[in-house]
Amino acid sequence: MEVIDNILRRIQSEGYFKSVKRYAYLPYDLNLAMQVVEAIGKSRNPNFVIDDENRFTYENLVRWVQGDNAMMCLDPETKQPVPGRLDKGIYIAGNTGTGKSWALEIMSVYTTIDKIQIGFGKDYNGKDILGCLHWANVRTDTMCEEFSREGTYDKYKQWKCLGIQDLGAEPVESLYMGNRVDVLRMILEYRGDRTDRITLVTSNLPINHQKLIDRYGDRVASRLTEMCNYFEIKGADRRKVRNLAPNATKSDGASNAPNK
Ligand SMILES: Nc1ncnc2c1ncn2[C@@H]1O[C@H](COP(=O)(O)OP(=O)(O)O)[C@@H](O)[C@H]1O
Ligand SMILES: [Mg+2]
Repeated sequence: MEVIDNILRRIQSEGYFKSVKRYAYLPYDLNLAMQVVEAIGKSRNPNFVIDDENRFTYENLVRWVQGDNAMMCLDPETKQPVPGRLDKGIYIAGNTGTGKSWALEIMSVYTTIDKIQIGFGKDYNGKDILGCLHWANVRTDTMCEEFSREGTYDKYKQWKCLGIQDLGAEPVESLYMGNRVDVLRMILEYRGDRTDRITLVTSNLPINHQKLIDRYGDRVASRLTEMCNYFEIKGADRRKVRNLAPNATKSDGASNAPNK
């Protein structure tokens, strides 16, 4: 019936059904792609390396960007590799300084090499709404400060792709004209209910950590697991490792210089 078809199309265009559509950008050479990623990193900081601590994450971020079904992620419970989902976003957990933020930033630069098309739901006529797989990375405290200044976080609900840096590091409440709002909780609840959004997150908290559940509630915690492929980057704080390098001496100004 036409009436029902129209209703269903409208529902679909509102983004309530799983509707991110990925296209394969194959063939591509994973080794070459990793060299490109490393070169992007080194152009930012000559000490940038892809090593045993971050290789799994970077390789699978490349596969994810390329729309390669061989993409893997980690099971948040067992921490074992499991098949990833190309229509989901990314969550990278790890201690401070392990390189999580850089991973999102470098991969965001990588997406500018080819314009990777992606379908973000369907329009009213049932056609895919095409966009590019590319995201801005915004720190959570910046989002909260913006809310306290301007009273809105709407753009972070609406951007099709959004990189959220440092989830859990922001204040629990932000104040605007007497309104106290847990900004990230609201943004994540909204984005988690939409199926035509891609959300990328870095955090010191593992995705299934009790602190994350206590902080944002069950609803957001379970939405995050539904929304994201999970990764962990291990290892030491890379800011400190540089300062502790064996050939670094106290007088070695360069090795002690802040690298951010
Ligand atoms: N793969 C890497 N190899 C070497 N140094 C890195 C790498 N990734 C990040 N860094 C360095 O470590 C610092 C911390 O990285 P960052 O991504 O900000 O950490 P996190 O977000 O995990 O706290 C950066 O300023 C950068 O100089
Ligand atoms: Mg960070």
